Amino acid sequence: MCGIIGYIGKKQAYPIIINGLKKLEYRGYDSYGICILNNDNVFLKKKVGRISNENGENLRDGNLGIGHSRWATTGGVCEKNAHPHEYNGFYVVHNGIVENYKELKEDLIKKGHKFNSDTDTEVIAHLISEEFKDNLEDAVRKALKKIIGSYGVAIVSPKDKDKIVIAKMSSPIIIGICKDGHIVASDPSAVIDFTKQIVTLDDGEIAVLKKDGYMILKEKKIEIIDWESDAVSKGEYEHFMLKEIMEEPNVIENATQGRLLEDNVKLGGLETSKERLEKTNKIYLVGCGTGYHAAKTGEYLMEEIAGIDAEAHMASEIRYRNVRLGPNYAAIFVSQSGETADNLACLKRMKEVGVLPLGVTNVIGSTQTRETEGGVYTRCGPEIAVASTKAFIGQLTVLTMISIFLGRQRNLSKERAKEIISELKELPRKGSLILDNHKQIQELAKKYSQFKNFWFIGRKFNYPIAMEGALKLKEISYVHAEGTPGGELKHGPLALIDENCPTIAICTKDSVYDKMISNIEEVKARNGKVIAIATEGDGKIKDIVDDVIYIPETLECLTPLLSTIPLHLFAYYFALSLNRDIDKPRNLAKSVTVE
Ligand code: F6R
Repeated sequence: MCGIIGYIGKKQAYPIIINGLKKLEYRGYDSYGICILNNDNVFLKKKVGRISNENGENLRDGNLGIGHSRWATTGGVCEKNAHPHEYNGFYVVHNGIVENYKELKEDLIKKGHKFNSDTDTEVIAHLISEEFKDNLEDAVRKALKKIIGSYGVAIVSPKDKDKIVIAKMSSPIIIGICKDGHIVASDPSAVIDFTKQIVTLDDGEIAVLKKDGYMILKEKKIEIIDWESDAVSKGEYEHFMLKEIMEEPNVIENATQGRLLEDNVKLGGLETSKERLEKTNKIYLVGCGTGYHAAKTGEYLMEEIAGIDAEAHMASEIRYRNVRLGPNYAAIFVSQSGETADNLACLKRMKEVGVLPLGVTNVIGSTQTRETEGGVYTRCGPEIAVASTKAFIGQLTVLTMISIFLGRQRNLSKERAKEIISELKELPRKGSLILDNHKQIQELAKKYSQFKNFWFIGRKFNYPIAMEGALKLKEISYVHAEGTPGGELKHGPLALIDENCPTIAICTKDSVYDKMISNIEEVKARNGKVIAIATEGDGKIKDIVDDVIYIPETLECLTPLLSTIPLHLFAYYFALSLNRDIDKPRNLAKSVTVE
């Protein structure tokens, strides 16, 4: 939700800001803005639309500037609401929400302030102006004390030149340390072309960036970004989403590398929680959207492999419920970004009541990784497309390993653990075989592209995968799709099935195969078309359904790691045939840092 960037140093700021905004565009693409300071001259540009259409011409001189890509929260999408917001020479870019902005605005208006936008952010510039005497960071500190809500902010002003003041509360902020200056950004993708050394701000911290140094209230550890700059480019692919799906087998390999022993797993991030996990009675798995689908799959995996009570919840729901919590419980937060506001709010509540908080996270140094007591990185590298794909595969892989870890603390036999581990090692190869078949999936997606409603069904481990397939299709194609357990069809959804509502059925050779075949027959009896995701070698299913996508055979508990891949590809090619804006679907943003 909104990306912020700023540069101060010896180089020209303008191209660095444009480059950063392009990298951050996935966080918001309603409008963008740039402010460059050159002594007393201020260049301010705001535009509705996408920074990707900006050619970077009209270079403005200046070694200091800030920029913003917006995902509208308060105030419509128009030029006056684009950031930076200015009042009396104070320029602000902001990611987050000022919850008490209406009260603050009323007070300021009474004092004679005039507002130029409908945003919550503009009050920050006004408050700073009220507080300013001769030092920008002092004014920022005092102004932010009046704010309730979340912010990652960067502020510049010709009234206190040669510095960028930044601050963080519940929205991410990092500083990139370059040879020739400093960059502030919402995440590492915006600095990776210039440096791999970053410092992450914590909640409540304020920092001042100058040409030759930066100052935070306390000493911070420098972290090293462990991916290369080409990981944030599309390479040979037309879209990031396709590139990221094509990386899925590789993700399984990376996530498991060095972590698989013969009959157990080695997860460094769980070492310090080992004893508490031994005594844990129940695991809550918490996520949003695709992260929730991974959590739901994790619930089945933990019950089956670890033999522990597990319950998956959407963060936005569980945080308001009165579920039983306490020191004998653990909560695993599943998130690509590690910045999802609902997850973080829920994490805070769980911590307060003594639940052991753990994370399955992709982004290194994100708030979730710092607020949890341990966890496991998914090691997927940067995921840029708004629709999450490879991160989901990374989450499933890590949750499988955590299940083995918990299982070996309980009753999981060495033989069963060995069997799962040796099959996990086969999955990158098997996943690649599915990708080799992408042409068939592309043709099928094209064949079905005129339909406006889809049903996805699966049972047991593949029920969350049905939900994931449906979410991916709806979010990038804008067609209606729902994912339900196969067994639920007859309790209502069957009323919607006819020749205009195809069903995608995950029907692999496993313990619920016969039940799924019955569900498919229920659909066929209502003239519904069926595409099956089936196990290689299953000849029988061809005679029942309209189309089949085969995937290699694997253990039942590992099927989701393969059955997801054709569904991600199907959604991608479906959206491609409708000519949708695949990497940046309308109304969405990658990191949902507001509630
Ligand atoms: C769907 C999608 C979203 C995210 C959700 C959680 O393709 O991308 O549903 O999965 O917003 O985001 P993270 O994983 O960053 O917590």
